[in-house]
Amino acid sequence: MDMTEQRPVNEASAQPARAPALPDAQTVTEVQHYTDRLFRFRVTRPRTLRFRSGEFVMIGLMGDNGKPLLRAYSIACPAWDEELEFYSIKVQDGPLTSKLQHIQPGDEIILRPKPVGTLVHDALLPGNRIWFFSTGTGIAPFASLLREPETYENYDQVILTHTCREVAELKYGEELVQKTLEDPLVGEEAAQKLVYYPTTTREQSPKMGRITDLLRDGTVFRDLGIDGMDAGHDRAMVCGSMGLNTDMKEILEGFGLREGANSEPAEYVVEKAFVG
Ligand code: A2P
Repeated sequence: MDMTEQRPVNEASAQPARAPALPDAQTVTEVQHYTDRLFRFRVTRPRTLRFRSGEFVMIGLMGDNGKPLLRAYSIACPAWDEELEFYSIKVQDGPLTSKLQHIQPGDEIILRPKPVGTLVHDALLPGNRIWFFSTGTGIAPFASLLREPETYENYDQVILTHTCREVAELKYGEELVQKTLEDPLVGEEAAQKLVYYPTTTREQSPKMGRITDLLRDGTVFRDLGIDGMDAGHDRAMVCGSMGLNTDMKEILEGFGLREGANSEPAEYVVEKAFVG
């Protein structure tokens, strides 16, 4: 089968003479490993791909059966980036990530150019303060939204919480915050508005505990000098494990926030992080 048939004509013509080995192929440009469970990578961006910061796409590799093996991955860079970034878990017996963790610059992955998702500004009503609640690789969509100018146009305060098991798993978020503060587009505003609240649950760090527990007992609010949350001012986006999403919904609803969607914006939105 001629795989090039599946590529947009203008894009195929811009490629080197070598035919892509995969349908919807993009080339890996950078790979960085953080721990034996986490890595990030960047790939070329299809010229025709437009997305809203916070959305995800299906990416993957060709499976052993000759069919594409795809999973949902949040795009971890803002809509204006020239390339696309992803942040992934490595599951040693995971069908996709057991292979994906070995990619190197120059390799190809499959990327279906149809971005979708609920963690977008359009799904929220106007407010003053936005909370990005994440666990593990659930921080990925916020890597996009944190560097998106609209985030700072829409809100006076932007709070990113990230809960991981161990300290080393916080590094991606620390680098992200640093990059955001140095970003020529949003750095100045981020320095005024961005609050980073990392916590760990299984290794000692300055702030221990699940974000859910720290919200329930008021620790977060005391630490940040905030009087709780209310539906008039606070907006939230949640991305992490099933447990986080379920527990956060209950907590946010307890503060009177309602779940929104693209078609019906409200006060918070939730998306499940890719888990393997
Ligand atoms: P814990 O260590 O107490 O399970 P994982 O690596 O399993 O995806 O977890 C990432 C982080 O999310 C861990 O710190 C984990 O804490 C935390 N976590 C798991 N479930 C919940 C939940 N229901 N609410 C808040 N945090 C959670």
